[in-house]
Amino acid sequence: MKTTIKQAKQHLNQEVTIGAWLTNKRSSGKIAFLQLRDGTAFMQGVVVKSAVDEETFQLAKDITQESSLYVTGTISEDNRSDIGYEMQVTSIQVIHEAHDYPITPKNHGTEFLMDHRHLWLRSKKQHAVMKIRNEIIRATYEFFDTHGYTKIDPPILTASAPEGTSELFHTKYFDQDAFLSQSGQLYLEAAAMAHRNVFSFGPTFRAEKSKTRRHLIEFWMIEAEMAFTTHAESLEVQEQYVAHVVQSVLENCTLELKLLDRDTSKLEKVATPFPRITYDDAIDYLKEQGFDDIEWGDDFGAPHETAIANHYDLPVFIINYPTSIKPFYMQPNPDNNNTVLCADLIAPEGYGEIIGGSERINNLELLEERIKQYHLDEESYSYYLDLRRYGSVPHSGFGLGLERAVAWISGVEHVRETSPFPRLLNRLYP
Ligand code: 4AD
Ligand code: MG
Repeated sequence: MKTTIKQAKQHLNQEVTIGAWLTNKRSSGKIAFLQLRDGTAFMQGVVVKSAVDEETFQLAKDITQESSLYVTGTISEDNRSDIGYEMQVTSIQVIHEAHDYPITPKNHGTEFLMDHRHLWLRSKKQHAVMKIRNEIIRATYEFFDTHGYTKIDPPILTASAPEGTSELFHTKYFDQDAFLSQSGQLYLEAAAMAHRNVFSFGPTFRAEKSKTRRHLIEFWMIEAEMAFTTHAESLEVQEQYVAHVVQSVLENCTLELKLLDRDTSKLEKVATPFPRITYDDAIDYLKEQGFDDIEWGDDFGAPHETAIANHYDLPVFIINYPTSIKPFYMQPNPDNNNTVLCADLIAPEGYGEIIGGSERINNLELLEERIKQYHLDEESYSYYLDLRRYGSVPHSGFGLGLERAVAWISGVEHVRETSPFPRLLNRLYP
């Protein structure tokens, strides 16, 4: 019977065969312990000298790290292991013998591991992070599907720049100029006028010269756009969505969170509603806390966001930023025209901004004025203005950076470990 490590618990006390790789081993004269992984999970195989033929025991002692194998044996309960069972091995067939696997059980530096990212992905912790990433994606589709959203895929090659031009990746589109998408928002706004509530999930490119634990050059963004929706209503969707994702990971990734030593008590506290603080109050709070380096009108840096997040120990919305530090499309705040109807959601524990969102300008004249003020090419926004010409409605939306969400929920320090093949300022390989 061929099975997988994950499925093997359904075969307790039966003999099964599993295709697996050897991650590590330990042996004495009488017994060998094989640490096996098969992609679905990790499990120990026990080879007892007296229970197998001489050749098999010798093989168990000689197999090299990352060799691929078919291992046959009986699945038995084992309370000491994470997974709750192990295999009493009866025979081993080597498929491919690996020699000099570069990543040994000793400690390697991060740069070395990043150079070997294609192999590093096999290790236990990296495997757990990708599983959590996968669960967040699954829970995202589940959330938007149960709430009646239609998934719309915006283009990657674009002619215009939603978030301003400084961070764009430029490329040629035959004899025309084009840019890699830095957000699908403007296209989602068009889609929202056709489908009401829509979402997207795709790669996003930012040529930012930032080398921080929160910045990738290529990252994946989940964006949502909702017609007939105010910014206050959008905040409710955002907090429900984030709470759902956290809850799903807590329920379905118990083993992975344990493996990563994640303090889950912090995640268990994540419940709606999330606190909201205005930008103005955030500035006052930071000044009280002794930050003299910030003035009204400045954008927050990582230390500022962390100070605000620590005050709540929950995800917190900072609302109504100054117009001058936000993109052209945001709806003015009717209570204070120097600010806009927008929010950044700041994750706890120093993970920083995970969502940016806003209500969009729905008045044609105001939007035209803004496009001029921001020195944007009017012609390439003609389609966007059409949405205000034909049945304009109040609408709002937001974008969540997947890798930052994975870093926070997994408790991984740096976003580079939350992307399978991260693109960083100094890295395009592997
Ligand atoms: O705040 P941003 O720039 O918002 C937008 O792009 C809007 N158009 C979204 C919308 O309203 N539809 O980016 C959204 C999120 C950020 O909060 C952050 O989580 C993530 O994308 N992000 C990055 N993640 C990793 N590396 C980077 N360089 C990132 N830049 C933004
Ligand atoms: Mg932002």
